Amino acid sequence: MTDNQRLWLAIALCLAYCAWVGFIIVSHYARQRERRHVTTGAFIVAYASQTGTAKQLAEYQAELLESDRPVKVIALNDLAIDTLRKANDALFVVSTYGDGEPPDNGRRFYRALQQHNKQHNTALLQSLSYRVIALGDSQYPAFCAFGELLDVALQQSGATAIAELEKIDRAQSQPLPGDASQSAESSFKASTWRVTEQQQLNSADGRELFMVTLDADQALPAWQAGDILDIQPHNANTAIAEWLNKHELNPDTVIAVEGTPTPLKLVLHTRQLTDLAGAGNKEQQILKMPLLPLRSYSIASVPEEGQLKLIVRKQYHPDGTPGIGSGWLTTYAGSEEPFCANVKDNPLCHIAQLDVPLVLIGAGSGLAGIRAQLAKRYYANSDADIWIIYGEQSPQLDNVIPAAIEAWQTGFAGLKIQQAYSRGEPGQYVQDVMVAAADELQNIIARGAHIYVCGSHQGMGQAVHQTLTDILGEDALMQLIDEQRYHRDTY
Ligand SMILES: Cc1cc2nc3c(=O)[nH]c(=O)nc-3n(C[C@H](O)[C@H](O)[C@H](O)COP(=O)(O)OP(=O)(O)OC[C@H]3O[C@@H](n4cnc5c(N)ncnc54)[C@H](O)[C@@H]3O)c2cc1C
Ligand SMILES: Cc1cc2nc3c(=O)[nH]c(=O)nc-3n(C[C@H](O)[C@H](O)[C@H](O)COP(=O)(O)O)c2cc1C
Repeated sequence: MTDNQRLWLAIALCLAYCAWVGFIIVSHYARQRERRHVTTGAFIVAYASQTGTAKQLAEYQAELLESDRPVKVIALNDLAIDTLRKANDALFVVSTYGDGEPPDNGRRFYRALQQHNKQHNTALLQSLSYRVIALGDSQYPAFCAFGELLDVALQQSGATAIAELEKIDRAQSQPLPGDASQSAESSFKASTWRVTEQQQLNSADGRELFMVTLDADQALPAWQAGDILDIQPHNANTAIAEWLNKHELNPDTVIAVEGTPTPLKLVLHTRQLTDLAGAGNKEQQILKMPLLPLRSYSIASVPEEGQLKLIVRKQYHPDGTPGIGSGWLTTYAGSEEPFCANVKDNPLCHIAQLDVPLVLIGAGSGLAGIRAQLAKRYYANSDADIWIIYGEQSPQLDNVIPAAIEAWQTGFAGLKIQQAYSRGEPGQYVQDVMVAAADELQNIIARGAHIYVCGSHQGMGQAVHQTLTDILGEDALMQLIDEQRYHRDTY
């Protein structure tokens, strides 16, 4: 190679190197610009959810949006109003809890927005376009009330609704968009369970309380104390046989369900056994019969026990037949007939701190949540104080605590159990025990205690909430909610 050729080759290599460096610098800045756009122009999907359903739906909606542009999914309480002020688009997916109230992880945001609307009449959120999806249950008088309240507050702050408030009624037992667990016959196929034990804890006829043990056909999933099991109940086999007989159908006739040949007696496991409408293809009609509604249960055990346990009150319909979910779990299910169930994350009821005192309040089937929280502390060797206040009807018929938590009663130095029997001597409810021990309650809360309440909302949860408000004051109770130290697993 001549000197000249060597010179040109060196120049060409230099130019190629410069072009390469230039390309890297340009793409670096382009990426930075893109990232800046992501953080400032993200679509906000905010949820307020007590038991995880609205959160699940928010995450699904975010996935749909993500193909289009960057999306930020966030709990409503974690969303600063200032962040929303700078945003252009938001979707709110919110459920309603209590009596038309916000879920605990939306309450603080809503208060802040209301306060702002009261104090300033500037259009704070004027650059925001939004949509609200409200989850609720039409069996409650204040159907989707929090969705409505949030919608009004957003409009008052100058935001523009791009669509009318959408209400989803959980009472209709329609599948939620994107909820594979409810969408089809094959629903929970990935998660099949069998009932291995039904232990009656009380001796009260007509309101039996059972500890139900389940084994998973697959590896046990992970869960935490406070989580929920959603189950797909089955019909009793006798009810299926009667229905087939009445409609003159052979239980072993095979029909195609989502392409899989299935005998009628199995197809009917999860169908609402309504009468067929006169003439027409019976098989087609059967495929159109709605599924039995899902039922939720607070999980009563922790994975360290190697089994999933529930505590279930057997309910009865006016005609004396057992409730759909409770009848299945306590009476009809057995190890021969697998059914589908899914563990649902319920983060507001997780109590991560193990070194703070715990006040566990519950009644009836609320023993489920109490048992799970106690088990968590037992297996973690926690020695922090635990105070259980538990209510039932009769001291003679409902002495259920020993059978449910006996093994652990001696395992805790600082465990105190107080029981309230509404038909005892004297007749007492859990709130009466709380009032009598108001000073002690204030002390333990001052020592950093978490409060966890489990059981029926109407019968007990509301009364406990009111009593805590009376003892601590509304602001202090709201602060406990904001600090995530007041956990409500009430239904
Ligand atoms: C988050 C969550 C956690 C829960 N945890 C627990 C738990 O740990 N333990 C537990 O036992 N329950 C729990 N529940 C309640 C549970 O989900 C069910 O609601 C309960 O078992 C009753 O359901 P079922 O299908 O057995 O009764 P259903 O068949 O739904 O009947 C329920 C009641 O409605 C009444 N009823 C039904 N039909 C009629 C009618 N035609 N006319 C008049 N009255 C009627 C009956 O009196 C019956 O008692 C929880 C609920 C939620 C939301
Ligand atoms: C204790 C309790 C109170 C409820 N109160 C209402 C209510 O006042 N209005 C309503 O429309 N729905 C009410 N619901 C129904 C819930 O909003 C509905 O089940 C929703 O799907 C729950 O969503 P989440 O899991 O995101 O909290 C209530 C549910 C529970 C368990």
